Amino acid sequence: MTPLLEVQNLSTYFYTDEGVVKAVNDVSYSLEPGETIGIVGESGSGKSVGALSILRLVPYPGRIVSGRVIFQGTDLMSLSSREIQRIRGRRIGIVFQEPMTSLNPVLTIGRQITEAIETHLGLNRDGARQRAVELLDRVGIPEPQQRIKDHPHTLSGGMRQRVMIAMALSCEPDLIIADEPTTAVDVTIQAQLLELMKELTRESNVALIIITHNMGIVARYVDRVAIMYAGKIVEQGSVMDIFKGPQHPYTIGLQESIPRLDMERREKLATIPGQPPDLAHLPLGCAFRERCRYAVDRCSNEVPHLMAVGQGHWSACWEASTLISPQAG
Ligand SMILES: Nc1ncnc2c1ncn2[C@@H]1O[C@H](COP(=O)(O)OP(=O)(O)OP(=O)(O)O)[C@@H](O)[C@H]1O
Ligand SMILES: [Mg+2]
Repeated sequence: MTPLLEVQNLSTYFYTDEGVVKAVNDVSYSLEPGETIGIVGESGSGKSVGALSILRLVPYPGRIVSGRVIFQGTDLMSLSSREIQRIRGRRIGIVFQEPMTSLNPVLTIGRQITEAIETHLGLNRDGARQRAVELLDRVGIPEPQQRIKDHPHTLSGGMRQRVMIAMALSCEPDLIIADEPTTAVDVTIQAQLLELMKELTRESNVALIIITHNMGIVARYVDRVAIMYAGKIVEQGSVMDIFKGPQHPYTIGLQESIPRLDMERREKLATIPGQPPDLAHLPLGCAFRERCRYAVDRCSNEVPHLMAVGQGHWSACWEASTLISPQAG
């Protein structure tokens, strides 16, 4: 099968007064049509900047410094701004981290959806309105004929997220990027929204990139996982690989921080000690070294690159073959 999306050696840096911040540092992964990948990592690891880079929406003073993003056979980096505009929203939908900043406060919900539909699908106003109502209904918004007249601030966080999902789906894209679509809402609603996204994308064979901190979400909703640390993918594999046989100390640390049902309420959740490195002054060797209980000498001076540790499973750790996860087996 030809991949739907191939991200190849993508690097995006921010040129700041404090130095060059390597937010995304030589990232590669690919996605099959209809597949769901989870991109996981702590705050500041480059998940959002990586997603924005795909659509060439990196804000100033950021710049994509290298790499290719092949989407349906075309390198998005080589397109004119007009051409990339046609991909955004039409072929690739995006659900942003903060819906209040990405919904336009002065436009009604209906208008925000119909605008995209009119532009991309060439429907007239009535046709577009009809489609907007159908979409709001499909994402579980009650009384959609009424709601399309509302402005975003009159809706709850969960309802706004649903509007974002409807907008992402409006032009029948082949890929949706959902950047932490659920942190603004409570856990029950979070589960409902992800359930909804999975169902809608499965129905239409839409591929999905889910960006999250939450390993629980990953276990439940994705096919494959890429673990990000300090701008790099440090481990990549199937959900099974990542949960049953993690091959990177950072992944093991993330797993230990997932709350389990069998845990006593007062039992302390393990967190990974220490802080991620300053992305403008990366250490010489492995960026995780300072926090790693498995580190050896080599880790201080040689950056580990992704190495195959199994079928479709890669780890960027010099000690990968010797790791034993406390939860595996
Ligand atoms: N406008 C900016 N100027 C300078 N540096 C930036 C800017 N935006 C992001 N960065 C840098 O890029 C890094 C990656 O940011 P990004 O938003 O991708 O993190 P993230 O993994 O999405 O985090 P979160 O989970 O908190 O959303 C940050 O650590 C930050 O140092
Ligand atoms: Mg982010």
